[in-house]
Amino acid sequence: MEKDVVILAIETSCDETSAAIVVNGREVLSNIISSQIDIHKKFGGVVPEVASRKHIEAINAVVEEAIDQSGKKLNEIDAVAVTYGPGLVGALLVGLQYAKGLAYSLQKPLIGVNHIEGHISANYIEHKDLKPPFVCLVVSGGHTFIVHVKDHSTYEVIGETRDDAAGEAYDKVARSIGLGYPGGPKIDKLALEGNEEAIKFPRANFHDDSLDFSFSGLKSSVLNYLNKANMTGETINNADVAASFQKAVVDVLTDNVITTCKRYNVDKIAIAGGVASNSALRKTLIKEGEKLNIKVLFPSPILCTDNAAMIGSAAFFQFIKEDFADMDLNAKPNLKLGQK
Ligand code: KG4
Ligand code: ZN
Repeated sequence: MEKDVVILAIETSCDETSAAIVVNGREVLSNIISSQIDIHKKFGGVVPEVASRKHIEAINAVVEEAIDQSGKKLNEIDAVAVTYGPGLVGALLVGLQYAKGLAYSLQKPLIGVNHIEGHISANYIEHKDLKPPFVCLVVSGGHTFIVHVKDHSTYEVIGETRDDAAGEAYDKVARSIGLGYPGGPKIDKLALEGNEEAIKFPRANFHDDSLDFSFSGLKSSVLNYLNKANMTGETINNADVAASFQKAVVDVLTDNVITTCKRYNVDKIAIAGGVASNSALRKTLIKEGEKLNIKVLFPSPILCTDNAAMIGSAAFFQFIKEDFADMDLNAKPNLKLGQK
């Protein structure tokens, strides 16, 4: 490619206001993330109305800082990219309106990016040589997917959750044992002190060839265990609960993603989304991958969680195909992977 493609990307789909400047989809010049976690903590989860309001308050400063830190001038930007779904509608609209205004005033193309595609693309930033095909396990607070990434815009969903997302299950179980929000990192840490074999929690098993997931039964089973122990006066070892719950989640995620690789003859797995930071998931997948000569890749934690750099990376592959959006692009809270 002769000329660098500089993209300004904006992400506001949930509770992080983020803006980034990304060059050629792989080089991150800035990635500013303003997290609302401390605000939502009090409520035990994200409150949509509060999220929208906080995005409005933060977005201008976040975008300005991303531009300043990148060393680029506004007139050096080739396109403005923005997440338009899936996510919270009010939160998405804040980023979308801001991006439209900026693209219009700069007279540059607008690129609408799917948030899940963004999570997958975080791996292109971390692993500069990564190219499809590979299998991606997307595990976040809102999503759990196994995706066969065939090329930069062709995705086949091989498995998905039929109820709670993996991160959601982490957050709910964490709350039930008195850990705060978000629960994933806290369970991850506490599990290190517990015995993962102490309690036998169920693994959902579908009776067809499906590689789907279900975490609500596991979550209920943890709640039942805690209620029963409380009623009978049994002592609860929270570290054992955390470790045993985590083992049940990691076992199913690992089994299904390894089966996908075998079924589709793919030798590369990339993990994405907030739960991709999980230490047990990383360790187990690497170990199981080694046995079968499957390479397992992870983005660094800052690129696992919601951030605009991953949106800028996904947008680059749309830019080279001139896959631009019109100014009437709307937020799509239930946008599916591979759809517009
Ligand atoms: O991708 P993300 O930042 O936001 C969504 O798009 O949902 O993911 C957030 C989720 C939360 O549910 C959080 O508890 C979980 O990722 N998470 C973790 C870990 N770090 C974050 N779950 C398990 N282990 C972790 N280390
Ligand atoms: Zn996300």
